[in-house]
Amino acid sequence: MKIVVVGGSGFIGSHVVDVLLEQGQEVAIYDLEAPHYDQKCDFIRGDARDVDRLSQVFKSGDVVYLLAAEANVNRFYESPLFSNDITAGAAMSILEAARRTGVARVILASTEWVYGSLPETGEEYITEDTPYTNNPDHIYTSSKIAAELFCKNYRSLYGVNYTIMRYGIPFGERARPETVTPIFIRRIIRDEPITIHGDGSQTRQFIYVKDLARGNAACLSPAAENQIFNLNGKKKISVIQIVRTLEEILGKKANVSFVEDRKGNFKGRFISSEKARRFLNWSPQSDYEDAMRKYAGEFLASSNL
Ligand SMILES: NC(=O)c1ccc[n+]([C@@H]2O[C@H](COP(=O)([O-])OP(=O)(O)OC[C@H]3O[C@@H](n4cnc5c(N)ncnc54)[C@H](O)[C@@H]3O)[C@@H](O)[C@H]2O)c1
Repeated sequence: MKIVVVGGSGFIGSHVVDVLLEQGQEVAIYDLEAPHYDQKCDFIRGDARDVDRLSQVFKSGDVVYLLAAEANVNRFYESPLFSNDITAGAAMSILEAARRTGVARVILASTEWVYGSLPETGEEYITEDTPYTNNPDHIYTSSKIAAELFCKNYRSLYGVNYTIMRYGIPFGERARPETVTPIFIRRIIRDEPITIHGDGSQTRQFIYVKDLARGNAACLSPAAENQIFNLNGKKKISVIQIVRTLEEILGKKANVSFVEDRKGNFKGRFISSEKARRFLNWSPQSDYEDAMRKYAGEFLASSNL
């Protein structure tokens, strides 16, 4: 069995490839960009929307991870047509190529944002059985929900197996520069203002990317077939808490200003990853502050400032 990681050159995908290679799996990266981190595996340059090319690459019995997408919600807002094309559109192309070639399973990267627009009922504990509403608030969310639904359609109509992984917000080595943690570190070091949308109380269950990558690999288990898993951090962290943690690690005060909240900004409630623990024996191992300290240290040492 070969494992094709579509989007394996990206932030999360590169860590998933590392874990799979450590486990001795036969891995190929399929991406528009060549790998940046010297991964010892096949690389196929290609577009996740190119069904014919994908159908040449996929072989019967392969497992395909789909991590390629527009992961930046701001770019989704600016270019919705293109962004949806490389997110929900790409998911449909991957599933179609999987159908044509007899791929054993498509494992899709989704997001905790699919829970984002649930009405505030006071219900604090979200599981994979919590339904999403029909009012998803952001095109990114709708596109991810569409990708999830295509997986289910391809399963019921054509028998293509899937696993859906709903990620929390990852942080750690190789994070894209425009993500929250590298931005905050850079601003604190340079004495630049940090802008927070809303009052900073919105929470995310930040997850260390290496824990998330292990969770991705755990989804290879047969127990994950045609299942959905939340892969999320252990505790809720507010945006302002990130700033305070970094201030402590960096030994420097941040200059914080608060602006109007973003449209569709998911406020965050507790999302349980208990199912992944029960089915896959996976749970995040890292303590948030420890992982952040390690990441910040590497970030500063690599002079990304
Ligand atoms: N980073 C996050 O905060 C986060 C949170 C939840 C879910 N996710 C999801 O996880 C997945 C990976 O996110 P990431 O942060 O690693 O993103 P990333 O942008 O770092 O990586 C995406 C990779 O996909 C590739 N790619 C983009 N379009 C492609 C195309 N048309 N064909 C082939 N390759 C293409 C890019 O070259 C890149 O290597 C995405 O599906 C994203 O929506 C990310």
